[in-house]
Amino acid sequence: MPQYLRLGSIPRKHHIAHRHAPGFKNEGIYYEEVVTTAGFTRAYSVVYHLRPPTRVTRLEPAGAISSDFGEQPMLRHHHVKTGAMERSGDPISGRVPLFGNSDVMMARCRPERAQEELFRNADADEVVFVHRGRGVLHTMFGPLPFRDCDYVVIPRCTTYRLEFEPGSAPDLLVIESSGALSIPARYVNPDGQLKMGSPYSERDLHGPREIAVVDKEEETSIVIKDGRRLTRYTLAHHPFDVVGWDGMLYPYTFNADDFQPLTGRVHLPPPVHLTFDAPGFVVCTFAPRMLDTDPEAIKVPFAHSNVQADEVLYYVRGHFSSRRGVEESSFTLHPRGLPHGPHPGTIVASREARSTDELAVMVDTVKPLQLSRQAMQLDDPAYPMSWID
Ligand SMILES: [Fe+2]
Repeated sequence: MPQYLRLGSIPRKHHIAHRHAPGFKNEGIYYEEVVTTAGFTRAYSVVYHLRPPTRVTRLEPAGAISSDFGEQPMLRHHHVKTGAMERSGDPISGRVPLFGNSDVMMARCRPERAQEELFRNADADEVVFVHRGRGVLHTMFGPLPFRDCDYVVIPRCTTYRLEFEPGSAPDLLVIESSGALSIPARYVNPDGQLKMGSPYSERDLHGPREIAVVDKEEETSIVIKDGRRLTRYTLAHHPFDVVGWDGMLYPYTFNADDFQPLTGRVHLPPPVHLTFDAPGFVVCTFAPRMLDTDPEAIKVPFAHSNVQADEVLYYVRGHFSSRRGVEESSFTLHPRGLPHGPHPGTIVASREARSTDELAVMVDTVKPLQLSRQAMQLDDPAYPMSWID
């Protein structure tokens, strides 16, 4: 998790009265809420509200996320182009699931309007990769600004609203993790600090910097997602009525351009790009970098078969030196059991290259991925044969 943060007004110890006169209903205190992970055994924060966070006035069913995933008739490589996907919905309702299994769901979202209601994902951590867009994530922890190429990490059970600057044409990749998303253990020393030599440090992780208390005694609705089910809860007041908090559980951003890539004498394997870890999958960042230095080095990735892994690459920016035909917002899915590698001509073409400007996000999964109907509609059926000259 990111480092310990403390914002606003908190009392000197956990679970003691945080005095505030007159306070809600003259009770004379701010109301503590403990937000935890893994029961009460992993990262947590302690938050202080103007009013009890439990004041529900109504609840009603709010439909379900459409789930159009199916078995594929063949094991094969896929190339799914999403750059021209129609804009629709808001930053929540406009999400189009493309690849998924029980551990991870990947969706593209090109919203056409502002987020209508607050949203809360009850059972998945979210990574919203901002391919394009600037704005602010609003939560009870305080405003969190984001920009192009930020990973915005939103812990499960965080109520939020994604607000984009006017004219910023948001374009998002949303990754939902059923298990706890974390900073890879191999980057963290026994003292809990990011090790020197890791591809990022605490300075690259950005949490909220200020409290923004919303003191509104007016009904506010939240759409809560658990699994596919959506439920609308209405509270008697706005839930962002927080005067202070501390802890290690909060939304944060990490910009993909702050990832420090490694270059080897010869090509280094994908784990050097590891960015986030989660049960059943990893997220990697292929950032602009110097290419391998040995005079005989082959500067595009070696052909390989995925073993016990399905590999999804989302192409963000730049010239993708090992691939033909991919473009910005393309996905490739190279599943287990099949070799893939550089396209014909790309080994020779890269011989004189000293660096690559490509930026891509990779998701490698342990369990096989299924494709949605929308992914199959955007898929290129000729892609498996694209290695033939
Ligand atoms: Fe690969």
